[in-house]
Amino acid sequence: MDMLGIIEKKKKKQELSPEEIDFFAKGAADGSIPDYQLSALLMAIRLNGMSRQETVALTLSMAHSGDMMDLSSIPGVPADKHSTGGVGDTTTLVLVPLVAACGVPVAKMSGRGLGHTGGTLDKLESIPGFTIGLSEDAFLKQVREIGCAVIGQTKNLAPADKSLYALRDVTATVDSLPLIASSIVSKKLASGAQAIVLDVKTGAGALMQTTEESIELAQAMVRIGCDAGRKMVALVTDMGQPLGSHVGNALEVKEAIDVLSGRVTGPLLDVSLMLGARMLLLGGVVATVEDGQQKLTEALHNGNGLEKLRQMIVAQGGDPACCDDPSKLPQAKIIVEVVAPTDGYIEAMDTIRMGNAAQAMGAGRKQKTDVIDYSVGFVLHKRIGDSVSKGEPLFTLHANRANTVESTAKELLESIHLSPTPTAPGKLLHAFVDSEHIERF
Ligand code: URA
Ligand code: CA
Repeated sequence: MDMLGIIEKKKKKQELSPEEIDFFAKGAADGSIPDYQLSALLMAIRLNGMSRQETVALTLSMAHSGDMMDLSSIPGVPADKHSTGGVGDTTTLVLVPLVAACGVPVAKMSGRGLGHTGGTLDKLESIPGFTIGLSEDAFLKQVREIGCAVIGQTKNLAPADKSLYALRDVTATVDSLPLIASSIVSKKLASGAQAIVLDVKTGAGALMQTTEESIELAQAMVRIGCDAGRKMVALVTDMGQPLGSHVGNALEVKEAIDVLSGRVTGPLLDVSLMLGARMLLLGGVVATVEDGQQKLTEALHNGNGLEKLRQMIVAQGGDPACCDDPSKLPQAKIIVEVVAPTDGYIEAMDTIRMGNAAQAMGAGRKQKTDVIDYSVGFVLHKRIGDSVSKGEPLFTLHANRANTVESTAKELLESIHLSPTPTAPGKLLHAFVDSEHIERF
């Protein structure tokens, strides 16, 4: 087969065959096709799109370009969830232990923070001693024994996606629906779960900013997953403001523990229950979403969810003392209140700017080699629709470098838009998508 012919074909808006797609995916994985030809093809795909059949073929080829994790030694239906990325989006830490406590195993590979969004691995590593680098055998054994594990992606997971994503990043070809959908789903297929719930974020802080674009991405991914023989559904949830009130690694672990202890309710718990209930349904332990919500709520109230988190922390080498006393997590030295400059009602938030402000304090990386400061970040005290009075705290900043405090406070204040007249609270759930339906809320 010949790469030049494949590029020609896509340039002329013709459909590529599964064999042609497999040829360039393999060539991306093993380095046999030069970057300039792959880049040209990616731009042709970005401009001319891909059919449903082409997108499925690309997903399968990328998934099979490396190791396919075999979860068949785990009893039950292993479930997974994937978020397209957000700010204060700590649902994994809340729902993995709750879902496992309800009898559906979760063998999860998570990612690191990217740009303004946080990453589950960085959050977990803020727990003293916690390791995300288990061998495959240790990973599977842990899920068989306690029902859950969260680790980093194994090295040889979807290597074709790794190469193509790195090229997309530097050739302005990230924003292509078939390329995003195939990239995400290829890694989920390779990770082995049979039941997968996607959390597609929408709004100012998300990959897709409008509800309709987010629904379109959700539908594309769900179709691919189902065509590939997995159970897959998606929720389109709101990222017009941070989901939890805590942003920053140790702060987000603290919030997850507060939620699992029953001390804190709110949007983070609500979205975790929505996603978790779908995992229980696909995992076959409940008959309806309502039963799933109820089962998870019981595991929250009887402490089984928090106990599951404790078991997972112990199994992965971490100090479980933070489950009883979150102040055992890394603490910042400087705590400062940032107050409202005027009276008003919160109309909108610039979630990306907030995420970037936390990153600039040290909660995230600008470069791959940057070292994270787990203790820094902020707590947001208000949500869209809330009224505020002049002088009332909007944020509590947790900082270690005194010279970052003023600029971060300014960034955070400018990321909140106040209106003089009352505003409506945003909704949390925008749509539910399965292979046949779209339900809008
Ligand atoms: N996340 C991914 O894994 N791939 C994309 O293409 C975009 C977001
Ligand atoms: Ca994530």
